[in-house]
This record gives sequence, C-alpha cells and structure tokens, in this order.
Amino acid sequence: MKRVDDFRLKFGKQEYVPIMIGGMGVDISTAELALEAARLGGIGHISDAMVNDVSDRRFDTSFVKDKTKLYKHNINNADKSEIKFDLGILAEATRRHVGSTMQAKKGDGLIFVNCMEKLTMNGPRETLQVRMASALDAGVDGITMSAGLHLGSFGLIAEHPRFRDAKLGIIVSSLRALQLFLRKNARLNRLPDFVIVEGPLAGGHLGFGMDWAQFNLASIMTEVIQYVQAEKLDIPVIAAGGIFTGSDAVAFLETGSAAVQVATRFTVAKECGLPDAVKQDYFRASEDDILVNTISPTGYPMRMLKGSPAIGDGIRPNCESYGYLLDGAGNCAYITAYNRELALHPDGKNISVQDKTCLCTQMRNFKLWTCGHLTYRLKDTTRRNADGSYQLLSAEHIFKDYQFSVNNEIALPN
Ligand SMILES: Cc1cc2nc3c(=O)[nH]c(=O)nc-3n(C[C@H](O)[C@H](O)[C@H](O)COP(=O)(O)O)c2cc1C
Repeated sequence: MKRVDDFRLKFGKQEYVPIMIGGMGVDISTAELALEAARLGGIGHISDAMVNDVSDRRFDTSFVKDKTKLYKHNINNADKSEIKFDLGILAEATRRHVGSTMQAKKGDGLIFVNCMEKLTMNGPRETLQVRMASALDAGVDGITMSAGLHLGSFGLIAEHPRFRDAKLGIIVSSLRALQLFLRKNARLNRLPDFVIVEGPLAGGHLGFGMDWAQFNLASIMTEVIQYVQAEKLDIPVIAAGGIFTGSDAVAFLETGSAAVQVATRFTVAKECGLPDAVKQDYFRASEDDILVNTISPTGYPMRMLKGSPAIGDGIRPNCESYGYLLDGAGNCAYITAYNRELALHPDGKNISVQDKTCLCTQMRNFKLWTCGHLTYRLKDTTRRNADGSYQLLSAEHIFKDYQFSVNNEIALPN
C-alpha cells in the first residue's frame, strides 16, 4: 500500500515531498507554519493579504496607523475613491514579511507567497505589480496566483530579473480558467511552473458559484491532466480541496496529481495564526455549522463557520485604515450595503448588514472564520484535554501524518 512519501513533486531536477500547505490570509498561514512545511521538505505558503497590517504585527511598523491618520478626514464620506495605497510602503511591508520569512528558512523545501488578485486595493494593476515584484526582490521561492484569473499578472512582472527563475503558478477551478490563462500569457513564452486545481470543498473563497456542490475535484483534475498531456505541456498539476488523509492524497497522486495542496487540517496547528479560542471553535464544529454564502464583497462564494461574529455585523467601513477590496474607483460591495442600511437608520445605531461583510476588518480581527468543508472532521484528528478542550497539534505532526499514514488512518498526538 502506497504512502504520500512514495511520491515526489518534481520541479526540474529538484524533488520535494508532494505536500503543499495552502496560503491562508490574513496571516492564518503564518511564517512559522510555512517554515515548518519547508523544513520538512514540502512547500509552505505565506499570504500577502493585508500585508501592511501583517508587517505592523510582526515588525512593529505603523503602516496602518499612518494611513488612518492620512485619510481620517474621509471616514464619514461614502466616496472612498481618494484612498490610495502608498506603493513604497506596500513594497517595504512585503519585503519585510517575505524577506524575514526567507531568512529563517531551513531544510530542503520551498516557501511561496499566495497572491490574491481580488485584493484590488483601489489600484489593481500597480498594487499587484508591487506586491509580486517586492516578494521576488525579497527572495521568495515562488508565487501562487489565486482568487482571480490573473490574465495580466505574468505581464506585470515579465521584466523582473527573477521572472524566469522563480516558481510561478496559478490556482484554477476549471479547465476553462487554465486555458484562458495560458492563451493570455502565450506571448511571454513562459508557462506556469505549476497549476493548482482547487475543488469545491476548499476553504476561503470558491472559484464556483452557489452551485458548487455539483462539482467534483477528481473530475476537474482528470480534465485538466488530460488537457495538459494532450498539449504536451510539462506542468505539474496539483489537487486541492477536501484532501483530509494521507490516503485521500495518495488517491490523487496515483491518478496523475503531482502533489496535493492542503489547508484545513493545519488550521488547528499550533503554528497557525488563528487565535486559540477560534481553533477550538473549528474543532467543535459539526457539519451543520459550515456554510457557503455570498457575504464576501469579492463576489465569490465563501465558506465559513455559521457562528462567525462577522455575519450580520454592521460596522462602519474601515477603508481609511484598510481598503484592500476597493475596486480602483473607490467601490466595495460592503460600502454599498452599509450605506443602504445607514439610510434606514440615520442615527447609525443598531446597524446590521446581512448580505455583505466588511471583509478586511473582519478577517484582520479573526471574526470571519473561513474554513474548509471538512472542518467538522478536525475533532477526529486529536485528543481532548481534561477540561474538554481539544489538544492543538504541531504542524510537523499533521504534515507527517499526511506523509506516512495509510488506510485512511489519522495518527493522534501522543
Ligand atoms: C482558513 C482558510 C483560509 C484560506 N485562505 C485562502 C487565501 O487567502 N487564499 C487562497 O488562495 N486560498 C485560501 N484558502 C484555500 C487553501 O489555500 C487551500 O487551497 C484549500 O483550503 C485546500 O483544501 P482543504 O482546506 O480542504 O485542505 C484558505 C483555506 C482555509 C481553510
């Protein structure tokens, strides 16, 4: 019977344990978590979501405070078009976050940064360009482009000296999305180094509509692998979403997947950035507690725990401090929803917004508990403490369980 460790992910001549820990913003996939994956010979991700805020927390910078001060006069103004990110600061925050992580890297694995296109930051092209270029400057091993089709993203960094040596890949949820990406980037004569196919059971935003339940990762993988082979493209295709045990992973590796990307199991790792109390909520969750809804202003469905305090919360939009979802013309679907409710309650009290959420603020404060479909199985991966709480796991324990387990077994901690 095969184990994940019988397989290797190959990039050219280099070989890796075929386990990627997926990017989880905002700083849920911390540097510590990514570093463990790399130390153990696999691939870890940090995320550059809200990187100015992440830098403030990690390095005691004051980027968010400074931006708030700069735009304070605009707080009660519904028009947010004036709020811009300072590109120099964005570059510095990215270089700090990525650079310090890379400096701490040990072992034979790699560290990539997850870069979501939907973080349009009121200047989609220039901010994405700075984010990716600064991550490359800071020595990141690779970039995983997600939450968007990224049709122009390669072009934004084509002149960067590391454009052809860094590992660049994309997350897709359909063959069509991959075909579009390849067609749009053909003129650059540079294929992606990897493609992650993310199915409908993943955490975070979904690349499907609300009919997500009708799709199936294995079928999309088959379609993508057949296409890549038929076109004689030498691109590793990596499966993601709902791969919960080593045996689940082996089933994909045996049918042509070059590696697996996993995340949910690691949300209850000690190294994961969620507060410990929230990790206990993840452990306690039952299947009924997990829902997919449309409250994300990005327009993508998102999976979360139904007890997330963010749901229905009507806080004032905080774009003067954050503003990561402003579309380039100062719009965000939460601002529209909030202003509609404010018009109904002009005193500004007791405002509840049900249909959208202030994603930046809520993710930053860990009040929106995005999660994978199989979160309800996390309780089966650990033991309970005397007080009834669940024991947190080390990332190494979870990683090695994926790497070495057989028969759908899950090793409990000692
Ligand atoms: C809590 C959480 C947050 C996530 N955040 C992001 C994100 O910011 N960007 C992204 O591309 N994917 C995100 N994902 C998706 C993962 O990177 C990964 O592809 C997917 O969850 C794998 O499926 P699994 O969780 O069933 O193992 C997130 C997943 C989880 C569980």
